[in-house]
Amino acid sequence: MKALILVGGFGTRLRPLTLSVPKPLVDFANKPMILHQVWFLTAPLRRKFPNLSIVCELMFFSFELYQIEALKAIGVTEVVLAINYQPEVMLNFLKEFETKIGIKITCSQETEPLGTAGPLALARDKLIDETGEPFFVLNSDVISEYPLKEMIQFHKSHGGEASIMVTKVDEPSKYGVVVMEESTGQVERFVEKPKLFVGNKINAGIYLLDPSVLDRIELRPTSIEKEVFPKIALEKKLYAMVLPGFWMDIGQPKDYIIGLRLYLDSLRKRTSSKLASGTHIVGNVLVDETATIGEGCLIGPDVAIGPGCIVESGVRLSRCTVMRGVRIKKHACISSSIIGWHSTVGQWARVENMTILGEDVHVCDEIYSNGGVVLPHKEIKSSILKPEIVM
Ligand code: GDD
Ligand code: MG
Repeated sequence: MKALILVGGFGTRLRPLTLSVPKPLVDFANKPMILHQVWFLTAPLRRKFPNLSIVCELMFFSFELYQIEALKAIGVTEVVLAINYQPEVMLNFLKEFETKIGIKITCSQETEPLGTAGPLALARDKLIDETGEPFFVLNSDVISEYPLKEMIQFHKSHGGEASIMVTKVDEPSKYGVVVMEESTGQVERFVEKPKLFVGNKINAGIYLLDPSVLDRIELRPTSIEKEVFPKIALEKKLYAMVLPGFWMDIGQPKDYIIGLRLYLDSLRKRTSSKLASGTHIVGNVLVDETATIGEGCLIGPDVAIGPGCIVESGVRLSRCTVMRGVRIKKHACISSSIIGWHSTVGQWARVENMTILGEDVHVCDEIYSNGGVVLPHKEIKSSILKPEIVM
């Protein structure tokens, strides 16, 4: 079985982090986003090669929610990455990953962005094989559980051409909205980013498609949500299955921070031993084993501290992500923010309200940041009093 992950797009909504790496390589819960999708695709292989799974667990603990892993879990043997932005960065990262995880990863490289359907036409030969089996397509900026085995069963049961996962959200206008017949799952309408309310079930970005869907897609920039799904729905061959559990598109900072809360909640239910504990911890906190935390800190809830981070004494962290190699100096306080790789936050600094620091940003001592979005390699010497971009 094959799978394609859509890893293109410029990730503009996640700048300044995507100025350093493509969106799928931005860390989420201490690991690049893309790894959140691999795990589910690969279970039967892992059962066949038990040692492989131990190696994988050691290399990347808590793989359960990772896309490529997810694909491997249900017997996908080849993952095609549809890439158009910074291909060399992705390729270098994944070459190493391919041997570690034991799944064939190939790249289908666009010379111009082909949208969400064009990449399928480009990768046509890689997706079709003699078995005529359906293939998975995943958006790369989504975190959820991936009940892919159930999805295969669902797909077989309805006999349509395409299956999609849907989930309920409060703000459906940001997504592709699906109107479906509840009892059968048959999709009546698919409306991408509707201006008027259509319904609150939305496309979760996880598809299982028959090879015949490829005959509907031309090799040009085109959107699967606007040009393909509405037509298949009209022919009554599109079916939707409601995704159990949590779901979030983490492609923008606010949702990224909410997504971390949902992810850590789910981790607490499944494998709480992976979360930090102690008198200095409040709620769900993920701390890489190579990070150090000083005396008298109060950390949590909903915090991820990445590899090699140094958190000095008396620091207060809540609802934030601190990426690899960051140093947080004494008595700094960070909430609802993302601190990019190898940055420093000075002592007694206060960083809050959706502050996003790009890679290698240095916030001087006693500085206040209220929603500053700071580009990589900057030094912040004066306070940012209202949300603004610091170039
Ligand atoms: N290869 C390639 N080429 N990939 C692309 C391109 C492109 O030109 N443009 C976007 N992508 C990838 C993105 O990296 C992402 O994984 C996926 O396609 C969806 O693109 P987004 O830009 O994140 O779309 P969205 O979040 O506004 O909407 C999509 O996702 C929602 C769920 O999160 C749609 O599929 C909606 O219908 C859906 O509800
Ligand atoms: Mg998205």
